[in-house]
Amino acid sequence: METNNQIHPTAVVDQPCIIGAGTRVWHFSHICKGAQIGECCSIGQNIFVSGGVVMGDRVKVQNNVSLYDGITIEDDVFLGPSCVLTNITNPRSQVVRKALYEKTLVRRGATIGANATIVCGTQIGLYAFVGAGAVIRSDVPDYAMMLGVPAVQNGWVSRHGHKLEFDEEGIAICPESKLRYQLEDGRVCCLDLSEENPLPEELASGKGAYQDYKQKEA
Ligand SMILES: CC(C)(COP(=O)(O)OP(=O)(O)OC[C@H]1O[C@@H](n2cnc3c(N)ncnc32)[C@H](O)[C@@H]1OP(=O)(O)O)[C@@H](O)C(=O)NCCC(=O)NCCS
Repeated sequence: METNNQIHPTAVVDQPCIIGAGTRVWHFSHICKGAQIGECCSIGQNIFVSGGVVMGDRVKVQNNVSLYDGITIEDDVFLGPSCVLTNITNPRSQVVRKALYEKTLVRRGATIGANATIVCGTQIGLYAFVGAGAVIRSDVPDYAMMLGVPAVQNGWVSRHGHKLEFDEEGIAICPESKLRYQLEDGRVCCLDLSEENPLPEELASGKGAYQDYKQKEA
């Protein structure tokens, strides 16, 4: 464990585990032996991180989230409060399936909304956005917005979390960042910034409320 972490005295951190530099762990959270957590993450209150979890850098985990074996969280992911990521499709108390945990991968920059549930064995794409309360049962494309129970795709979102309106050439401009996106063959990519690159500093702070940009779009 790095020396510049901030671990609240009520948190329980079982050793050995990896907690990267600059990561904070808040009240009453439990990090199990073997967990790998990257740098500059925020692990909120009452979080459980199982020993087989791998988490990248700058991940924000909001309160009351449990992360079980089989779950991989890439860099810059946002896990909303009380969201649930499962690891067995057909759990039965009488049947031990500890060696059978199913994999779930949350790709870089994705957001899982409050109270959403991710059924295991799925992949949440780069910068995808799962709305509050949604239930995800299958893979989610990059930049897709998913809503409802069971979740269905409700368009596409930018890296800044705004709905993308594509013109007849398949180009959309994020109203906040002005980054351009292209929709081609059912896939979205950003034309101005590689998905792997961090946001430049001037684009890394919100400039206005969601509704302001939504009204401008209308
Ligand atoms: C997905 C989200 C960004 C959409 O916000 P929005 O653009 O203001 O949505 P709107 O109110 O314009 O709704 C558009 C449509 O989607 C539906 N909708 C919006 N959010 C929904 C959700 N979470 N689940 C199901 N349907 C939803 C609306 O009912 C509406 O449907 P209609 O066109 O049939 O009337 C927002 O609802 C959301 O879930 N944000 C996540 C918040 C969160 O979890 N934050 C965690 C940090 S605290």
